[in-house]
Amino acid sequence: MKIFVGIFIIIAASIVAQAAKKDWWERGNFYQIYPRSFKDSDGDGIGDIKGIASKMPYLKEIGMDGVWLSPIFKSPMVDFGYDISNYTDIHWEYGTLADVDNLIKVCKRLGIKLILDFVPNHTSDQHPWFLLSEANDPYYKDFYVWAPAKINSETGEREPPNNWNSIFGNSIWEWNEKRQEYYLHQFLISQPDLNFRSQNVINEMKNVLLFWLDRGIGGVRIDAVPHIFETQFSDGTYPDEALSGECSDTNSTCYLFQNYTRDLPETYNLIYDWHDLLADYTKQHGGDQRIIMTEAYGPLNRILEYYGNSYGRVGSQIPFNFEIMDGVNANSTPADYKTHIDNWLNNMPKGAEFVPNWVVGNHDHHRVVNRFGLNRGDAINMLVQMLPGIAVTYYGEEIVMTDLWIPYNETVDPQAILAGPDSYWEVDRDPCRTPMQWDNSSMAGFSTSRKTWLPVNPNYQTGVNVRNERYKTGSHLNVFRKLVRMRKNRKVLQDGSTVTVADNNLLIIKRETKTSQLFVALNFGTEDQDFAVSDHFVPLKKNYYASVVSDNSNIRQGRYFRSTEKITIPKDAGVIFE
Ligand code: GLC
Ligand code: MG
Repeated sequence: MKIFVGIFIIIAASIVAQAAKKDWWERGNFYQIYPRSFKDSDGDGIGDIKGIASKMPYLKEIGMDGVWLSPIFKSPMVDFGYDISNYTDIHWEYGTLADVDNLIKVCKRLGIKLILDFVPNHTSDQHPWFLLSEANDPYYKDFYVWAPAKINSETGEREPPNNWNSIFGNSIWEWNEKRQEYYLHQFLISQPDLNFRSQNVINEMKNVLLFWLDRGIGGVRIDAVPHIFETQFSDGTYPDEALSGECSDTNSTCYLFQNYTRDLPETYNLIYDWHDLLADYTKQHGGDQRIIMTEAYGPLNRILEYYGNSYGRVGSQIPFNFEIMDGVNANSTPADYKTHIDNWLNNMPKGAEFVPNWVVGNHDHHRVVNRFGLNRGDAINMLVQMLPGIAVTYYGEEIVMTDLWIPYNETVDPQAILAGPDSYWEVDRDPCRTPMQWDNSSMAGFSTSRKTWLPVNPNYQTGVNVRNERYKTGSHLNVFRKLVRMRKNRKVLQDGSTVTVADNNLLIIKRETKTSQLFVALNFGTEDQDFAVSDHFVPLKKNYYASVVSDNSNIRQGRYFRSTEKITIPKDAGVIFE
């Protein structure tokens, strides 16, 4: 009898231990760097790899586990690095391969994983592969998506192979004089799509991944995933898409159903294959699991499929969760926030290997406070850090940087320039890409140059910079650091269940284990509102203290409250009770 009890205890203990043990990324805090804008080490007004390396201790200090870099590879920089002309070399303004090797060393020393941007959908039209492909080189001729012109039977004129549109507007097809065929580009004309129906392309891109894995990266963020494959009929033709009825702009993607140009099953299989490649690599070479983050916009069910499919194939560890970013804005109610949070939590696949993640900003969207409300910087950081799973922060959101308005004639983002002076603002990505604000010296400590590639937001002089916020209690940066520390240290945040409640102006999040509770009260409404822990939950304790307060909360950090006591949470403020 005694023996049996003993065995039972050992088994039970090992199950508990297993449940508690997490892989490095599963509760990770990730940080996105836009390399052009993080830190300029050589005074040319453009951020670079050496600059990034010099700031890694800062990222350690604020508790980051992984850092992902937007592309650093050789590029004509038409789309600021998302147009790559060599996947295995570094863009000259950013540095050299030796600089990246050094950066990886620095990261390893600090215990931070470096994640690089992998852009498989398209290359630059300056990539040697494209130049060889347009010249019909036998090995490279099928590297891109080529199709013959359609001849209009009435006019006799040449026309694109079908009606598909590109994401940046106008036909997805571009005529190539040299090859006398059209090529497909989901993005800019200068970003021809690679053809993943070619085994040679698959092999080459696998070699690119291995090249970087061998240099010691912790994984990849994969760009523009839904667009990797397009439907091609067995006779080699590309079918027209039906009209969606969703917008009137005949040149825009919303005009068409996009059923042949996005989310094809082949794309998912490719991501699962890359997952297996990284998993095999880890098995062979040891060390921590190399991971995949996927950038895919679209309907939730399509995005969740990147986690894996029902046949047991597994894909992206971090299929970026844009629910809040896409579904919520300054006019949304707390109920809207709740809907979008629950959407992900309730629909994501179940199983220990599937972990939620939260992304509220990136290099393609306006700054967080410009979208969610100017006084909500701390509250949004609280939201992201207190939700379960993985938190992703776009550079500068920890100090609550804001958009910088840039006039059309100084705009450099190709998407905005294409949109034209009347509507560029809607799609302009320059405002969220301005240099990181380090201190209040000239150019915010970003560069010694008097001119930077994008202007520095002058609000660095009025306090929005790392140095100022570091030494100020209750600053955005110190709130952020505290949140990150809590996320690491509190079992309730690591393992606790999550319940969301929308009550009028308040979004309330309860995190709970058997023995502890943590409550987040965020006022995303239009008026101040009272909150007591016992309003919505059964308290485990008599008293709770405000462990983190937003800058605008009027509540003293550390103050104790009875669980039944009403506390006013001002509009746009956030308070965490433990
Ligand atoms: C992704 C990137 C975006 C880029 C596009 C084309 O959507 O996030 O910045 O312009 O791909 O590469
Ligand atoms: Mg530089």
